[in-house]
Amino acid sequence: MDDAIRIDATRALSSAVGEAHGVAEAELDAIAPRVRQLHGILAEERATAKYGFYDLYKDTDVIDRVKAEADRFHAMGYENLVVLGIGGSALGLTALHTALHPPYYNLRDPKARDGRPRLFVMDNIDPTTFAQMMRLCPPEKTLYNAISKSGETAETMLQLLVIIEPLERAMGKDGVKDHLVITTSPDRDRVPNAPISLLRPVAKKYGLTAFDIPVNVGGRFSVFSQVGMFPAAVLGLDIDGMMAGCAAMDARCGQPDLHANPAYLRAALHYLLDTRKGKTISVMMPYADGLRSVADWYCQLWAESLGKQYDLDGKNVFAGQTPVKALGATDQHSQVQLYREGPNNKVFNIVEVAEFSETLPVPNTLQCVPELEYLRGATMNKLMAAELQGTVDALTLSKRPVIRVTLPRLNAGTVAQLLYMLEVETAMAGRLYHVNAFDQPGVEEGKRIARELMGADC
Ligand code: PA5
Repeated sequence: MDDAIRIDATRALSSAVGEAHGVAEAELDAIAPRVRQLHGILAEERATAKYGFYDLYKDTDVIDRVKAEADRFHAMGYENLVVLGIGGSALGLTALHTALHPPYYNLRDPKARDGRPRLFVMDNIDPTTFAQMMRLCPPEKTLYNAISKSGETAETMLQLLVIIEPLERAMGKDGVKDHLVITTSPDRDRVPNAPISLLRPVAKKYGLTAFDIPVNVGGRFSVFSQVGMFPAAVLGLDIDGMMAGCAAMDARCGQPDLHANPAYLRAALHYLLDTRKGKTISVMMPYADGLRSVADWYCQLWAESLGKQYDLDGKNVFAGQTPVKALGATDQHSQVQLYREGPNNKVFNIVEVAEFSETLPVPNTLQCVPELEYLRGATMNKLMAAELQGTVDALTLSKRPVIRVTLPRLNAGTVAQLLYMLEVETAMAGRLYHVNAFDQPGVEEGKRIARELMGADC
């Protein structure tokens, strides 16, 4: 694949940053058989459909239905798409939208948006934000997509309670089905082990279009399921390109050898850096505005999957590396001081886009300031690349391990490769830490307490 993303781990090795802070080739070679063995376990679990995220891109029936429904709703000509959802039900779509749509997308006129709706992802319950969204998005011009796997998350349920009344008032009971789509766990009568979703009776009452979230796909692994793909298709994003990106990365991630498998190499490096070199923090720092929300998405994936009190044998382990997001070059001016001179307890994931969709030449202006000669005649692209290289070199000089990820360009295929690789990496990292990467008991408990505080019968 021409657009294959590349991983350069040389700056995370002891040969670059010293034995105390980098991984020795011998340590990688020593862990390779374990990775190979864990690959066998993961492959078996995949084969028995324990985890569904690996194969979402292959489900052409689902993808075809998602696209057909998206086309049907697109034809209705909405001005706004409002997603009601939180965590894994929101972050994937936001990452795709930020990466694949032009900046300031919502400010563009409808023609410049190819007639696609503006997007509002309501992943919080800040009353000011929500009330302002409702003023900007009158129900008659809006398609809502309520997304919740459990179908009971208080934030999402409350949002639905708030929008349904004005929606029904504006459109009538029969009109609601043209403005509200739900994405949630399947009905229990079809899939007996599915969570009981409170969105199902809503779908029934209004005759809504409803998408199933497969039971074996967790929220933070659901971006390529109906959760991310339906709203992405309504927004006109390139679904086929994303599926091709997943397929390309899956082929690379099928390799049991960590030297041939970018996800396993990254998982092994992060695990070794955390457990042997004290790198308890993983900084995700893309040098492209389009990837800033991928950093948010990664933070949830890494934190919720690996941050576990108990291991698979029930032993107290308090595992997990703390993910932190940063954005180059912006955060060079806020965080890099700490990163170079503060505690040497971080691994840096520097993500670059080799070729931006725009080239911005620096005009030959302000001759009155000769000191700016080094910038005149260059491009903004060149300065971004220099800033990135400067950060990588400076971190290396300070003996801070860096893993560089290069996307040849930003498109549906490369972004899908990146997300898919990070998912597989997380699955392998879970196995290396010997924790369950697919549950989130800590989150569930917080949800339960909040419901109780609100007076629910828990
Ligand atoms: O990854 C996860 O499982 C969580 O972050 C959930 O996505 C989040 O809590 C929202 O849950 P739900 O989709 O059930 O509303």
